[in-house]
Amino acid sequence: MPRVALITGGTRGIGAEISRGMKADGYDVVAGFHLNVQRAERFHEETGIDIQQFDVSDYDACERAVHKLEESHGPVDILINNAGITHDVFLHRMPQEAWHEVIETNLTSCFNMCRVVIGKMRDRGFGRIVNVSSVNGQTGQIGQTNYAAAKAGILGFTKALALENASKGITVNAICPGYVDTEMVRAIPERVQEVIKGNIPVGRFGDPKEICHVVRFLVADDACFVTGSTVSVNGGQYMA
Ligand code: CAA
Repeated sequence: MPRVALITGGTRGIGAEISRGMKADGYDVVAGFHLNVQRAERFHEETGIDIQQFDVSDYDACERAVHKLEESHGPVDILINNAGITHDVFLHRMPQEAWHEVIETNLTSCFNMCRVVIGKMRDRGFGRIVNVSSVNGQTGQIGQTNYAAAKAGILGFTKALALENASKGITVNAICPGYVDTEMVRAIPERVQEVIKGNIPVGRFGDPKEICHVVRFLVADDACFVTGSTVSVNGGQYMA
């Protein structure tokens, strides 16, 4: 039986590439999505990958979604916490909602999803969790006090959860993508994009495939000695 992989935010951007790459590797992939039904359905038609709609910031919705998935696919072996949003604005203008939405969607979601799947992973003695953080969680970024706080929080969360489960066959790792050519990055004002590109030694934005490549490594059965790591994939923009 192929291992079952759930990728949140798995129908667009980096997540869609991870879903495709993992399907190609033979995993039984389910891609989560939230609001963009049209795009998710198109993704399903194009790839044949099962999709499931739920809000990662809502604990009960996560629990319901995982139970539904377990009925059709079996328990989750691999969880990729990829869903994330930005609401970029200087702190002195940031509405409270922009703080809470970003923290809940990007960080609390990792608690929600891991809390729902971890018990069964522990019972079965196997699990792979990859939390998608960001270079901006390592460096900070103008306009992103909310996002940087959430992405930095993911790094501590990952290490603590890795320690708790190291003896149970479960690895928990974080990846920190740099600026990758997705809708999220294309939404940055063009002149700011040029400033950012100038700070990337490789001289370009990343390709989603280059992030997927690292995830495929981390979820493999024989990556069992890699846990609690923070893996940077950023074209040299930040060297931890
Ligand atoms: N890097 C370097 N300089 C930046 C910057 C960045 N990321 N963002 C803003 N600046 C600079 C601008 O160039 C500008 O400088 P000058 O006055 O010298 O021209 C100054 O900050 C103010 O910026 P704006 O004039 O654009 O001010 P604003 O109030 O209209 O907008 C902002 C501020 C919302 C922060 C907007 O600049 C913006 O969206 N910046 C991009 C922030 C960013 O990098 N977000 C990452 C999104 S992608 C992502 O998050 C994925 C990931 O994990 C990497």
